[in-house]
Amino acid sequence: MTNPLHPKALRLGVNIDHVATIRNARGGTHPDPIRAAHLAAAAGADGITAHLREDRRHMTDADIARLVAEIALPLNLEMAATEEMLGIALKHRPHAACIVPERRAERTTEGGLDARGKRNSLQPFVARLTEAGIRVSLFIAPDARQIEAAAALGSPVVELHTGPYAHSDGSIDELARLADAARLAVSMGLEVHAGHGLTFANVSPVAALPDFAELNIGHFLIGEAVFTGLESAIQQMRRLMDAARA
Ligand code: PXP
Repeated sequence: MTNPLHPKALRLGVNIDHVATIRNARGGTHPDPIRAAHLAAAAGADGITAHLREDRRHMTDADIARLVAEIALPLNLEMAATEEMLGIALKHRPHAACIVPERRAERTTEGGLDARGKRNSLQPFVARLTEAGIRVSLFIAPDARQIEAAAALGSPVVELHTGPYAHSDGSIDELARLADAARLAVSMGLEVHAGHGLTFANVSPVAALPDFAELNIGHFLIGEAVFTGLESAIQQMRRLMDAARA
């Protein structure tokens, strides 16, 4: 857990979706994503992130219910802005809900949410989640117009999409976009998270940016766990993040 003496330390949210991907490949109960969440907590994660997709390709409704019931760490539920997902979020009341765009054919969340273009349809979701005491985050590109739109919608948190940075092998330009966007968001009173495509090789420059409060990392950690174990992979990520902040 984050050291309470250093509240500005960068939090690590571990996304366990792909434990469920492997389980679902055989349709049984192994490996259990909730067991992974327990391990992540023991290894130093500050939160658990899980995306309940419309097609239930990885996490299931039962997984979300068990995470809420059995895991002490804060749960960040990633969800599309649909009535079905809103109902599930309101039923389980996770600590946080990160609204993401979702397209059925995509392999993973490919782009950020168009908070600007879709502000009228997003407004009731932000309002109803907030009224229920759920901390809302919008997953957006590191773009000033999207940040302004997120602030206007009343979302207290934005998560900046690090995919373009990760997929460009950590380009300096993409890193600068993240840095500028995070600074702007903080100046507008928003808490700033980041995620997508982060690995041991590319996490440090992002973790070093002082405006980020949390990184959400999944696919790489679960893949690395095949070789070194989940605890070891999470501990190594934690060390790299802490070293970047030191
Ligand atoms: N943040 C958000 C909003 C995401 O949709 C994802 C992917 O599910 C992640 C973080 C984690 O990305 P990755 O699995 O590439 O680490």
